[in-house]
Amino acid sequence: MAALPSSSRLHPSPAFHRLLLLAAWLSALLTGGGSSAAGLGRGSGEGNISSSSYRRSLLNNGLGHTPQMGWNSWNRFQCNISETLIKQTADAMVSSGLAALGYKYINLDDCWAELNRDSQGNMVPRASTFPSGIKALADYVHRKGLKLGGVDYLKYDNCENTGTSPKTRYPVMSKALLNSGRAIFFSLCEWGQEDPATWAPSIGNSWRTTGDIQDNWNRQDFHCTLYIVTSNADQNDRWASYARPGSWNDPDMLEVGNGGMTTEEYRSHFSIWALVKAPLLIGCDVRSIDKVTFGLLANKEVISVNQDKLGVQGKKVKKYGDLEVWAGPLTAKRVAVVLWNRGSSQAKITAYWIDIGLKSSTVVDARDLWAHRTLLSVNRQISAMVDSHACKMYILTPRR
Ligand SMILES: *[C@@H]1O[C@H](CO)[C@@H](O)[C@H](O)[C@H]1NC(C)=O
Ligand SMILES: *[C@@H]1O[C@H](CO)[C@@H](O)[C@H](O)[C@H]1NC(C)=O
Repeated sequence: MAALPSSSRLHPSPAFHRLLLLAAWLSALLTGGGSSAAGLGRGSGEGNISSSSYRRSLLNNGLGHTPQMGWNSWNRFQCNISETLIKQTADAMVSSGLAALGYKYINLDDCWAELNRDSQGNMVPRASTFPSGIKALADYVHRKGLKLGGVDYLKYDNCENTGTSPKTRYPVMSKALLNSGRAIFFSLCEWGQEDPATWAPSIGNSWRTTGDIQDNWNRQDFHCTLYIVTSNADQNDRWASYARPGSWNDPDMLEVGNGGMTTEEYRSHFSIWALVKAPLLIGCDVRSIDKVTFGLLANKEVISVNQDKLGVQGKKVKKYGDLEVWAGPLTAKRVAVVLWNRGSSQAKITAYWIDIGLKSSTVVDARDLWAHRTLLSVNRQISAMVDSHACKMYILTPRR
């Protein structure tokens, strides 16, 4: 959601109390007023969350063992959302095949609710746009095998926060969600203002590290901080060492398919987000998705890097002016590498084994994740000519 007060969005208020009460509303909505532990049992079925010591400092809801995948309404639709749009989107996520690739959360962002609560203090779905209510919408989305953000996933945003520190506000919500009787993914969104990587892992499943992303590669603006694809990637990179299964850095949702960038720029955006274990939340209109956009978002090999069980965030490991090497380890001693050309002309980029965590004697097979070709027996380094604003992405598998 927008970070700037100049945003034209409608603001429910007062947001702080609204959010505290949301958990109670969620609980009542989902359990018919009572509380139940069944939901948490389902969530912890994802894995043995007590099996390694580091998990003790994570939010104990069993969710987010790999970064969350799905769709969110904000980047494309802002406040122009309705139950019809959400249902059509859920339909399209399934019929396109995106859901089967792992994109399972259908997330409502702002503007689904009336400005005022009911007499009991419950939030009320906007009658003009969500006339059937959230329960009916959740049932519809669940019947498709998907999950609904607002019910299965809470993005707690930072608008109208009354100046209270996120470190005070977000733990309250975290506890309320744990007590809701349901495993609810908790996405913190305080725009990276108080370095959430340093305190949020025990509270939420992901935290934003930046302001709102824009559908823009590198707009020049000397007056304010930019939240574009390149700068969000860099700001997020600072916190790489804090990410791990169950808790992820979030450089904001995908803009792929929204029209502001070239295909190669979107390919770079998606490749880097996958490598750095960012949430993969589609932000375009999937009801009318074009072939090129689909080809980017549906690349299984790139998605597999994001969803790799080792859960280590890839990092920028080398920079030669505008030419960058990003890399990170994967399961089975493999390494994922992105050669990223942020400059304005084609150039050769080389990743040396020593820079990406491989012994210099290692011989690898290099799978090109966009060309879907494998280069056999590669020694010491991998190089490619990379077009302006484009990237190459590989998985390197050591030969035995
Ligand atoms: C989970 O891991 C813990 C610690 O390693 C172990 O004691 C426990 O038996 C495991 N539980 C299951 C269900 O595998
Ligand atoms: C809002 O959504 C409706 C229905 O999808 C569409 O017809 C309309 O053009 C949209 N309005 C704006 C301002 O985007």
